[in-house]
Amino acid sequence: MRNNNAEPEYLARLAPVFQHEFIKQLKHLDCRYRKLNKYYFLISSKRSIKSIFLHSIFRVKMKFEVSGFTKKRINDLSELMQDFVKKSINKKTPFKISCSISGTQTFNTNTIGMNAKDIEVAIGTKLELQGYKIDLLKPKYIFILNIFNTVIIAGKVDLKNPAAINIIEKPEDISRAQLKLREAILYFKIDLSGVRNALDLGAAPGGFSKELSMHRIKVIAVDTADLDKRLEKDRNITHLRIKAAEINSGQVFDMITNDMNIDPAESAQVMLSLSNLLRTNGSAVMTIKCPSRNIADYIKNTKKILSAKYTKFRFQHLPHNRMEITMFMLKK
Ligand SMILES: C[S@@+](CC[C@H](N)C(=O)[O-])C[C@H]1O[C@@H](n2cnc3c(N)ncnc32)[C@H](O)[C@@H]1O
Repeated sequence: MRNNNAEPEYLARLAPVFQHEFIKQLKHLDCRYRKLNKYYFLISSKRSIKSIFLHSIFRVKMKFEVSGFTKKRINDLSELMQDFVKKSINKKTPFKISCSISGTQTFNTNTIGMNAKDIEVAIGTKLELQGYKIDLLKPKYIFILNIFNTVIIAGKVDLKNPAAINIIEKPEDISRAQLKLREAILYFKIDLSGVRNALDLGAAPGGFSKELSMHRIKVIAVDTADLDKRLEKDRNITHLRIKAAEINSGQVFDMITNDMNIDPAESAQVMLSLSNLLRTNGSAVMTIKCPSRNIADYIKNTKKILSAKYTKFRFQHLPHNRMEITMFMLKK
């Protein structure tokens, strides 16, 4: 069954923790929506949807309401997905297929005899045999097939779009926080080419510092807690075992990062008092740790405190954020 709805539909993914806030935004925008599970919303809207809470969003290109599913239906679906890919890109464009099955009883490996990976491989292999170019590491587009309990949805994500952050986790990553910074760099398109040194506040166990070091940036890592032992030999990282307020440095940095787990207003005050250590136009990344869900208030207050010294504020809940929002800004 095709989507006959006149309004375009979007499939949005976000963290369960901020769904309540997101629903408030949707109501404010007067959008119709259907909650598919704790991560996904199907939204009808004439305008594209922007929200700091979104981890991904794409325009729905195929939608099938379903009540049961068999392997035969998977084969039909595979044919439809192949047609969709062939109509969307040429044979030289690298892409990958990403399938997820979020059903409960109706769709699982036992009832359809295949898991999401099997479905990806089945569709991808057929396309490869026809000369199309699968690239799992550097795709330009991801063709998404999401199988929910009552509906199947497909669409295409352009990886140039910042709302499609697709970071690759590595076994040598120090902490979840490292992934937050990797995502922030991609999402805010932070240019690290001119960054030679950085001050990392609340650095332990060292994920942010390691991520910066991997970009050949010299890092002063400030935290009273220990850094991960794997960083002991990292010559780009110097650990200062002090509190941020005790910093007494004459050095000027190209970047400041701050992931301290303290109240947002206190954290913002530290960024304000250390702003003289950041060069003009230097970038800063700060995590706003939210003690409650009043996100709008925390964002407003943080911005108010920091506006005297910083500009170009941006805020985003990134896939590896928990009850926190990542903020990017530039020194005035
Ligand atoms: C979420 S952890 C940081 C994780 C780190 N960014 C990483 O990538 O691994 C928060 C850290 O902030 C530190 N912290 C809290 N208050 C601080 C302060 N006033 N000065 C320096 N560090 C502080 C804590 O000791 C803790 O290690």
